[in-house]
Amino acid sequence: MIYEKHIFICTNQRKEGARQCCGEVHGMSLVDAFKKKIKEHGLQDTIRAQKTGCFDICEYGPNIVVYPEGVFYGNVQPEDVEEIFNEHILNNRPVVRLALPFNKKPEK
Ligand code: FES
Repeated sequence: MIYEKHIFICTNQRKEGARQCCGEVHGMSLVDAFKKKIKEHGLQDTIRAQKTGCFDICEYGPNIVVYPEGVFYGNVQPEDVEEIFNEHILNNRPVVRLALPFNKKPEK
């Protein structure tokens, strides 16, 4: 694996009136917020955040997933980015209150 942590943020968009989608909420601002945190900490070589397409769990969104743990987070708000970054990305402690029930590695 190239990165110690790899954060995929759904930014999928659909036609208006179609199924709820993360990109229509604030998926792209989550990408920007995670990228900013990575840059602030000078971790561009070890942590990557990037946009991605639909995970097909749209109703939980906005959704992200953090690898290598495979922890999915749902209903992620911009104000949650700091907690996810500080707890999970920097300290390997998944944020249980936001973790979705189908994680590969659920809560500790
Ligand atoms: S649009 Fe984000 S999971 Fe489907």
